[in-house]
Amino acid sequence: MKDADRMSLSADDWDELHFPRPEENEFDRVVESAISRRGFLGGVLAFGSGASAMGAGLMGSTSALAAETSRFAFTPIPAQTDGTVHVPEGYDWKVLMRWGDPLFSDADGYDIANGGPVEKSDRIFGENTDGMETFSFKGHELIAINHEFPNNGINLPTAQEGVPANAGDVLKIQNIQGVTVMEVKEIEDEWSVVKDSPFNRRIHHNTPMKIVGPAAGHDLLKTKADPTGTASLGTMNNCGAGKTPWGTYLTCEENFNGYFGSSDETAVYDQPIVDGYARYGVKAKSWNGYELFDPRFDTSKNPNEPHRAGWIVEIDPTKPDSTPVKHTGLGRFKHENAEVTLAADGRVVVYMGDDERGEYLYKFVSNGTYQPGGETESLLNDGTLYAAKFDDDLSGEWLPLTPETTDMNAAEISIFTRLAASKVGATTMDRPEWVASSPVAVEAYCCLTNNKNRGIKPNAGGDDTSINGPNPRETNKYGQIVRWRPSNDDHAADTFDWDLYVMAGNPTVHTDAYAGSPNVNEGNLFNSPDGMVIDTTGLIWIQTDGNDNNAEDFAGNGNNQMLVGDPITGEIARFMTGPKGCEVTGLAWSTDLRTMFVGIQHPGSNWPDGGTPRSSIIAIKRTDNGLVG
Ligand code: FEO
Ligand code: CA
Ligand code: CA
Ligand code: CA
Repeated sequence: MKDADRMSLSADDWDELHFPRPEENEFDRVVESAISRRGFLGGVLAFGSGASAMGAGLMGSTSALAAETSRFAFTPIPAQTDGTVHVPEGYDWKVLMRWGDPLFSDADGYDIANGGPVEKSDRIFGENTDGMETFSFKGHELIAINHEFPNNGINLPTAQEGVPANAGDVLKIQNIQGVTVMEVKEIEDEWSVVKDSPFNRRIHHNTPMKIVGPAAGHDLLKTKADPTGTASLGTMNNCGAGKTPWGTYLTCEENFNGYFGSSDETAVYDQPIVDGYARYGVKAKSWNGYELFDPRFDTSKNPNEPHRAGWIVEIDPTKPDSTPVKHTGLGRFKHENAEVTLAADGRVVVYMGDDERGEYLYKFVSNGTYQPGGETESLLNDGTLYAAKFDDDLSGEWLPLTPETTDMNAAEISIFTRLAASKVGATTMDRPEWVASSPVAVEAYCCLTNNKNRGIKPNAGGDDTSINGPNPRETNKYGQIVRWRPSNDDHAADTFDWDLYVMAGNPTVHTDAYAGSPNVNEGNLFNSPDGMVIDTTGLIWIQTDGNDNNAEDFAGNGNNQMLVGDPITGEIARFMTGPKGCEVTGLAWSTDLRTMFVGIQHPGSNWPDGGTPRSSIIAIKRTDNGLVG
């Protein structure tokens, strides 16, 4: 060959041209099999061989087939890049509640425009909505909803770079996070919040909580203010949610580490604390400067306080005076959501993702069985935690985290769950976000949102993150959804079969595995699946929290959005698009299934009013008032 040819090609291209890789390697076979296995997709989708065949060449036939068999009751909408919400023809959306709207009439007129006053900041709807659930109680329709984090640039506009200037600033941003419980009602197709309802409640960073389960009372949970290690204050970074069969709300503490800092960078901690801080990312400086004005968040003064966060918290939305309960039996990590289902024999099964690069997917199985009207506290504590191991032959197993398998006692497994999972050799995942289980089939799904470190560097515990079966792409920028079917149709089973329901990608840009699976096409491009709920008919609603620059790798994706997937055909269609800059997260249905409530988090444009951007819940209905889920 001529030197000119050599110079005109990159080293990789030159290598590929002259030393081509085999058409199909062992890994390609795993991937192909994982996304096409007969029985999971009903044999409907046909795939070519090798990763390169997952691209544009096949999507036409996939779409054509899906169109003939579509179960969707709407015409999919195109991607959007503007500053508002779009839904299909025949549907309508309205804002139900915005950050800063009063829950109680004594907070009428609360003005967020210049950051808002600290007074009454615990009487308004909080900021940055996330997971939510609806509850029907004695004729009252209730919504419980998370407020994940504050936008300090808006809330603390006078403080330099959004850093609090005084204790009042800290208290204000503590108040606008956490959870809201509120009563809603519909009058002539229009939903509104019942101001001053006795069910309305704000739970924030200073609300008293009870700690129960295997870690309750452990030395690592004791502080000067609570020498019992059983009573903490507040719930923070509330991300996804869950609902128990007995009608309570589960709120999940995700990036709790970011709330703690130290006023003394030379502070010395005991080794277990040092190891825990390292694995969970507790650092000397917090995100919001709490430690500057609230000593509870200063680890040099309260080194155990971070151990009192990172849990799943149970709230009874029907009892406004009840004390929320932190269930240590469900483990401590960056909890995304809590998908609760029942095993064949009535034991309670909770699926949970730990949203950090290279962390794990978990499940909890109770020892006792759920009896309507019976005791429930032990059902979320007395049982076994498992971490998932996915094998390349499309089988998998749940590895129990027990004193025998981890050489840790029950309390240590509970407090340092990540360390326990590393010891048993679970599969490192591409940031497990929401898990959803189907009400019409014994199967579950987890959004693996993306992972720029896949194949590049290990997780915070040093665990290997080479590509593996359900996480098959290096520097994964698009994300995928893994699905598993428990053995014997029993969510308590120790083993399962798995496949990939979808690999997001962009077939207009790539022809290799980054094109995505064949059920991704020019008409439904999306990236970074995150929120996910399966409706009563078995359809999968997928919400995204991804790159919305709409260019290059993400060309054609548009703004973050909500899509719906058919579990049988694999068809995926775009149902809703959010305003520029937002994340779409949180989905719940009214009791009559004629309204879906959807959360719009951190809109980047001046949505919804043209002024300060305000995270909000919207209500989506069919214009003919038909069922929407
Ligand atoms: Fe708060 Fe992993 O999303
Ligand atoms: Ca999320
Ligand atoms: Ca996310
Ligand atoms: Ca978020």
